[in-house]
Amino acid sequence: MRRLLPVLLLACTGDPGAPAVDAPEGPTLLQRWCPAGDVEAQVDDALAQMSLDEKTDQLAGAASSPAGAGWRTPGVSRLGVPGLAMTDGPRGVAGYVGTATAFPVGMARGASWDPDLERRIGEAMGRETAAFGANVLLAPTMNILRHPRWGRAQETYGEDPHHMGVIATAFVQGVQSQGVMASAKHFAANSIEDTRFEVDVTADERTLREIYLPHFRRVVQEGLVGSVMSAYNKVNGDWCSESVFLLTQVLKEEWGFPGFVESDWAFGTHSTVAALEAGLDLEMPAPIWFGDRTRDAVIAGELDESVVDEAVRRLVRAQLCYGLEDPAPASRDAVESSEHLALAREAAARSAVLLRNDGTLPLDAGANIALLGPLADAENIGDTGSSAVQPSEIVTIAEGLDAALGPANVLRLGPPPWGPEDQALLDTVDAAVAVVGLTSSDEGESLLGAGDRDDYDLPATQVALLEELAAHTDRVVVVLEGGSAIGTTGWIDTADALLMAWYPGSQGGHGIADVLLGVTDASGRLPFAWAATDADLPTFDNVSTAVTYDRWHGYRHLDREGIAAAFPFGAGLSYATWETAEPTLSADTATSGDTVQVSLRVDNTGDRAGRHTVQLYATAPEAEPEAPAKVLRGFAQVDLEAGASEVVTLDLPVDELAHWEDAWRVTPGAWTLRLGTDADTLPHTLTLTVEP
Ligand code: BGC
Repeated sequence: MRRLLPVLLLACTGDPGAPAVDAPEGPTLLQRWCPAGDVEAQVDDALAQMSLDEKTDQLAGAASSPAGAGWRTPGVSRLGVPGLAMTDGPRGVAGYVGTATAFPVGMARGASWDPDLERRIGEAMGRETAAFGANVLLAPTMNILRHPRWGRAQETYGEDPHHMGVIATAFVQGVQSQGVMASAKHFAANSIEDTRFEVDVTADERTLREIYLPHFRRVVQEGLVGSVMSAYNKVNGDWCSESVFLLTQVLKEEWGFPGFVESDWAFGTHSTVAALEAGLDLEMPAPIWFGDRTRDAVIAGELDESVVDEAVRRLVRAQLCYGLEDPAPASRDAVESSEHLALAREAAARSAVLLRNDGTLPLDAGANIALLGPLADAENIGDTGSSAVQPSEIVTIAEGLDAALGPANVLRLGPPPWGPEDQALLDTVDAAVAVVGLTSSDEGESLLGAGDRDDYDLPATQVALLEELAAHTDRVVVVLEGGSAIGTTGWIDTADALLMAWYPGSQGGHGIADVLLGVTDASGRLPFAWAATDADLPTFDNVSTAVTYDRWHGYRHLDREGIAAAFPFGAGLSYATWETAEPTLSADTATSGDTVQVSLRVDNTGDRAGRHTVQLYATAPEAEPEAPAKVLRGFAQVDLEAGASEVVTLDLPVDELAHWEDAWRVTPGAWTLRLGTDADTLPHTLTLTVEP
């Protein structure tokens, strides 16, 4: 029988980087990761019976193309080790294994700020992965959005390690509740696409520890992720697949990761001995450096067999812990089931971010609209790279609005120039809805897709279209699609209402219509700070083979430079109106190891039900060297009927306030805690004194 890994909802483990992964009493990380008690003994037994060839064969993928259930690795069937079958995410099961539900892209789901929704999406993707007979889902993509021109921005969840870690952990728990392993990728500092195969990212240890690693720590220690994929790039001179620091010191030793590390695909492995000794366990998708070369290195005395044993142990442990030797029979019924399609629609609606609204939205159920723009009829669900999903049907924005308003109320407006009849149409409708933005020809994975975006701005033809539209009507609703921020110069004031729809998935047309009509409250919030122009962003160098990453991007960068965002991190409007009472702290003083609670009452003062996101930011005492102006440390959502109230309580473990010097340290003194609705709208202030 398949054994399902329990979904453990753990309290925060405290110190974001500390090796103390095991509580003094209670299960160890390995026991939580693999609750089936006798697995280590079974692994020992299997290892003792394997020949060197059998061991080294398992260290590399078996196929050079993803047939059937996906990319396979060899097992040892006589010992009940079945091998792995991997397929891509993260917006659904990859198109190369069959048609599947296409969810909104990761960035959209990051904008939901809703871990419960993301957990349900993980469960659905896990179910569909298992239905194809695969047992590893190559998702989530969880690299930091350093710059919106990054081609794979759409796959990840945003710019902030706390937000990313919480959302990714929920996804991993969902996937893994279905007996399928997730794979946290790409470890680490992989935030440029065009030079991904060669770029060397220099980053000091504080930058790595505070910005590029904490979310991975959370999916390892709280999400109990089964596997981690090393990134293509180098970090501080070492290929990620050969980085002793990343793979052994941090991931396996400090964080206690019990699973296996696979390389990113072609060009992701660069050596035999160095990579294995650094902690890479599996070369994918086919043996170039591992496999026979590994066997030869052991025979030649260049590689200690214990290193091979350790890698095989991790692979076999994972297969036995997940019950892969005896999987439940795969049923295709889950794939594109009505429940999954409904979830994709819900996700599209929950992800959309309303950035402007003068009252034009929501549309009445009986509204007439003029519909225009190059993407109104486009099946625009994202990149054509490894994350591409092939759904049976894609509901465009036009189809979604037709279904919601009735086709007779959705009047098509062609491109300008517009004559008197067009003007008459614009004068009679309740709103003109223009669907614009980016597509897979603008951004995506390199080699398989468009790579990094060439520039930050909206294509000039679309800016011209919006300008022209605004000259003809004052009820312009802009529905914008794309994987991350798009420069606002030249067009932003044409929008009386602006809805960021992302790449909204196969049911996106219905989900976006739900928000445009107010059937679902507009509850998405930006998972990044949206800069007005390229000049407000950190440098994006996708040409050089050496770049430096620092701690300053997104809201941290804008705060430091004193630049106002076009739309702040965490921003998004609701159709309801909200008030929050003065918050309270469970204790005014605390010390390392404590968790304080921050509570505040939220009132829905509007005349419709809605969803509100409370955000908590912390500012360090002045004594802390080079501290950011503020850092997101918690968030929670509440659904409230009109007129209803609820007290929201956020847990703040003091150790989460730590910064990296030569170790994690929490600066003693007066911490300022601020609460509000986005990074720049924080009306409530509390002081927490941290004692040494
Ligand atoms: C991508 C990975 C993906 C793999 C397998 C690589 O090019 O970087 O994210 O999982 O291909 O398709």
